[in-house]
Amino acid sequence: MGGLYIKAEAAMVEKILHKKRSVDVLSEVDSTNDYLLSLLKNGQYRRAVIARRQTGGKGRLGRSFYSPEGGLYMSLDTEISCDDEKFFRLLTPATGVATARAISSATGIDVGLKWVNDIELDGKKLGGILTQSTVCPDGVRRAVVGIGINVNTTSFPDETSSHTTSLLLHRPGEIFNINELAAAIIDSFDNYISLLYAGNRSVIESYRSLLTTIGRTITVIPAEEAPRYTATALDVSDDGSLIVLCDDGSQRLLDSGEVSIRTI
Ligand code: BTN
Repeated sequence: MGGLYIKAEAAMVEKILHKKRSVDVLSEVDSTNDYLLSLLKNGQYRRAVIARRQTGGKGRLGRSFYSPEGGLYMSLDTEISCDDEKFFRLLTPATGVATARAISSATGIDVGLKWVNDIELDGKKLGGILTQSTVCPDGVRRAVVGIGINVNTTSFPDETSSHTTSLLLHRPGEIFNINELAAAIIDSFDNYISLLYAGNRSVIESYRSLLTTIGRTITVIPAEEAPRYTATALDVSDDGSLIVLCDDGSQRLLDSGEVSIRTI
C-alpha cells in the first residue's frame, strides 16, 4: 500500500508543528486516506500522512483525484465526539476554511471555496477535500480528512485542464514549498477543528464568506439517476447544506452526500 518513507521530510514537518502530530511522508501511495484509515485500524491516532504522489487518489462521490508529483496530498484524523452527525457534516466546510486561510497566509494568494468541498482559484479547481470516517479499536469514531492541492503542478488531463489550476499556474516562476504549506494547513486545521468542537459559529460564518457559490446560477447533479436541474444558490444552512431557489420558485436544501453542483 505504501511507498518509501521520506523520514527527513517528516521530521521537518513535525518540527514546524512542534510535534503536535506524528507525520509520515511517503514517496508514493495509492491514497493517503486509505493509508490513514489503515493506521487508525491499528490504533495509531493523531497522524498526518503526506504523499508526494498518489496512484489511486480518490475524490467525492466515487470520482478520482489526479495526483502527480508536484501536488500536496495529505490526510489528517480527528475524533468525532458522541457520534455527532452535525459535527461530521461540518468537518468538510471547516477544513475548507482552514485550508483556504492557510494558503492565503503561507503564499499571499487568496483562494475561495465552492460548495461543498472544492478549493477554488481564478474560478478554477485548485484542490478538494474528501472526508471519511471509521470506528477505531478504542471504540471512538474518527474522521479521516483528505486534502489535495495542486501546488506546483503544471499540466492536467485534457478533460479537466480547462477548469483546473495550481498555485504555480497562478503565479508562474515561483516554486512553492510543499512541506511548509502542509504544516501551515495542519496547524490551521487543528485550530478550526477546536473551534468547531467548542461550537464556535465563526467557522460556518467564515465558510459563508469564502463561498464563491452564493448568488450564482448552478446546475444541480443528483448522485442518483434523478434529472439535473438549474437553481440559484441562496445560502448555506448552519449544518452546511446548500439552500437553493429552484426555477419553479420552491426552495430546497442540498445535502453534500447526495448531489454535486456546477456553476454556470
Ligand atoms: C474531490 O475533489 O472530490 C476531493 C479530492 C480529495 C483529494 C485528496 S488527496 C489526499 C486524500 N487522498 C485521497 O485519495 N483523496 C484525498
